[in-house]
Amino acid sequence: IKKIALLTGGGDCQGLNAVIRAATRTAILQYGYEVIGYTFGYRGLYENDYISLALETVSGILHRGGTILFSSNKDNLFNFPIIENGKTVKKDVSDIAVENLKKENVDALIVIGGDGTLASALEFARKGVYVVGVPKTIDKDLMGTEQTFGFNSALGVATEALDRLHTTAESHHRIMILEVMGRGAGWIALESGIAGSADVILIPEIPYDINKIVDKVEMRQRLGKKFSIIVVAEGAKPKGGDVVVQKIVEDSPDPIRLGGIGHKLALDLEKLISEHEIRTTVLGHVQRGGNTSPYDRILSTRYGVEAVNLINQGKFGTMVSLQGDEITHVSLEEVMGRHKLVDPNSKLVAVARSIGISFGDM
Ligand code: F6P
Repeated sequence: IKKIALLTGGGDCQGLNAVIRAATRTAILQYGYEVIGYTFGYRGLYENDYISLALETVSGILHRGGTILFSSNKDNLFNFPIIENGKTVKKDVSDIAVENLKKENVDALIVIGGDGTLASALEFARKGVYVVGVPKTIDKDLMGTEQTFGFNSALGVATEALDRLHTTAESHHRIMILEVMGRGAGWIALESGIAGSADVILIPEIPYDINKIVDKVEMRQRLGKKFSIIVVAEGAKPKGGDVVVQKIVEDSPDPIRLGGIGHKLALDLEKLISEHEIRTTVLGHVQRGGNTSPYDRILSTRYGVEAVNLINQGKFGTMVSLQGDEITHVSLEEVMGRHKLVDPNSKLVAVARSIGISFGDM
């Protein structure tokens, strides 16, 4: 191995730059590899668009969110949109990417991304490319590792938002709803809900009954608590049905209240609760921006170092992984194609229930 390349794919998050920095420094300082970084994820690989990564290039980026290599979440080269005769058609252009790697004499590729990006990494591994994956996502929904980098930083932002909502909720005796990200997984909602002392946590894995949320708010009132905090995962759903977001927007009496499940919940609760005003905050991409938490800086650094060590050891088609306190690796083949969701019967959910947090289901 003489030359390696990195790319960052999918939605960005905190910790990407820390991985880039650690991998580049390890490659140069420990193994004397040349390092390049493709820009905008796989798109750069297809267009052969890259920058050279030197020690100076990765200086001063450890703490910064985002990615100096840029990213794209619509960059599946096995089904890539290209314009032919004025029309957009989807084509498998992965051979061009493989050719580009050969042309640049890239011996191995570190792919930093979530499920879509790593699924493509596996496809490239099957084509004979020497690939090592690094698990990234604020959603924490990847199999094969106990932690994805980015999650802890997003958790910190969501927890701080709950802290801030608490004081204003208390002042106005309001119900405050915080909608957090997570796609089909409830990890951010569950953990920020516990850390940020929410009264109700709604997650996709436990469909809710609106009446149970009303019961919880009323019970709090009887105990003299005149405000309530609800954290809802963007993928949460009521029992018996998915939410059609477009319909919610059309039904909204107030055009400022655009958005997803958080707003639907507010509209539904408003019909059942008259004593409190209700406000919704959709936290959105704030969760993925800004500085990286200390935990994620360390995890990302460990992942970046190990990715290069794996290349040196010839362990390809793998993904770096956290198991207990150890950084190790798993085969991409084993972990792709499934998502890690919250187990409704898990100890963490039980802990939340023990301290009186409602999941809106009982
Ligand atoms: O997967 C990370 C994530 O932030 C999800 O939590 C969210 O649903 C999605 O990406 C948002 O994607 P985009 O940045 O394309 O709006």
